[in-house]
Amino acid sequence: MLTVEQNQRLTQVGAGTPMGEMLRRYWHPIAAISQMKDRDTLPVKILGEELVLYRDLSGTVGLITARCPHRNMSLVYGIPTECGLRCAYHGWLFDENGQCIEQPYEDTENPEGRFKDKIVTPAYKVAELGGMFFGYLGPDPVPVLPPWDLFVMDGVMREVCFAVVPCNWVQIMENSLDPVHVEWLHQNMRNYVMDKLGTPEKKRDRQSHQKVGFDVFEHGIVKRRVLEGGTEQEEDWTIGHPVVFPNILKSGSAGAPAFQIRVPMDDETTAYWWYRCYTEVSGVPIKPQALDEIPYYTAPVPQLDPSGLPQWDVLDNNSGQDIVAWISQGAITDRTHEHLGRSDKGVVLYRKMLEEAAQAVEAGEDPMNVFRDLSVNRIDLPIEKAKLRGRAGNMAKGARSGNTTKYSPILKELDRAAN
Ligand code: FES
Ligand SMILES: [Fe+2]
Repeated sequence: MLTVEQNQRLTQVGAGTPMGEMLRRYWHPIAAISQMKDRDTLPVKILGEELVLYRDLSGTVGLITARCPHRNMSLVYGIPTECGLRCAYHGWLFDENGQCIEQPYEDTENPEGRFKDKIVTPAYKVAELGGMFFGYLGPDPVPVLPPWDLFVMDGVMREVCFAVVPCNWVQIMENSLDPVHVEWLHQNMRNYVMDKLGTPEKKRDRQSHQKVGFDVFEHGIVKRRVLEGGTEQEEDWTIGHPVVFPNILKSGSAGAPAFQIRVPMDDETTAYWWYRCYTEVSGVPIKPQALDEIPYYTAPVPQLDPSGLPQWDVLDNNSGQDIVAWISQGAITDRTHEHLGRSDKGVVLYRKMLEEAAQAVEAGEDPMNVFRDLSVNRIDLPIEKAKLRGRAGNMAKGARSGNTTKYSPILKELDRAAN
């Protein structure tokens, strides 16, 4: 249970707040590169800031405040030039550093005035990795963008799925430190949904948790479990899978590992990225894509409509079930009334790590996973070959109705090829 003040400290993401400053020490995904293939600008909301990602005619990519500092027209409507983005309203031109480099009328009427030199709009660093654009909103010096394994592994087929989830990012992360919910939300509730959908054959056996464990390792927390009938010799316990501090879950299986990355858009909204790598799909050969051609798609988000029936067809997969759990906790869940039990020890550990990281930043130190120099070009993270006892190691089949892969264009295509 937290006080009102502790809950605010935990959940606020704006500039100048403890967690907002902590989160500003990390690179965060802001778009799939393929999203920029047919467009010049893209609105990006992150950590309470409204930005625009753009590519100018020379190929330079910039990330600047969306609101034009002249009279506030959105630069999402901006026009790319050879060396920046020009506001559509009166033609002021900005480079990737946010510097205004042209003001057509001002330059004509008063060329000696150099008014433009005084105009600098907030601009942030952008980098590319694994087919994603990442943004860094923190202070200099800019840290290294970490090469987490899935972003750099060879010979895999990738896809990027996205959703805007209307709740605070911490309650989403807490779900990743809460293994016991799997047997209830993703087995018990799922079975209820299957009955509602008239597809009882798709029910899952409930596998109850006998033991859950959480270990801090150099990049975050590894979570482990022993399920009913299982032993501590199985990979669910010996390997487990990690939460990479502060906001990435590595999940899936050896056949289709995925990162689930939760990037706060503001205190009450989270950008959710599923970044999945297929290493095998039902015997169909894998065709790795060019990094700018990784398919991007969106997942539906259940709507809470107290007067309507639940949307059973959106609730038939893990992601839909998880999202409805998070958003029904409230946009920023009230932790002054919770009652944590033994199953919540991972949640308690994660909150403690967030607080320690915020304090490190307040003390002028780097929190976990901020790298200043890196001698490796790939950071490997553990994952079980088969998540959950008795499930197939190759996620390809099992994953289809399991989560957002239900909506995957890649799997639809591969299914067609296989049949
Ligand atoms: S509002 Fe952008 S140039 Fe005037
Ligand atoms: Fe879940």
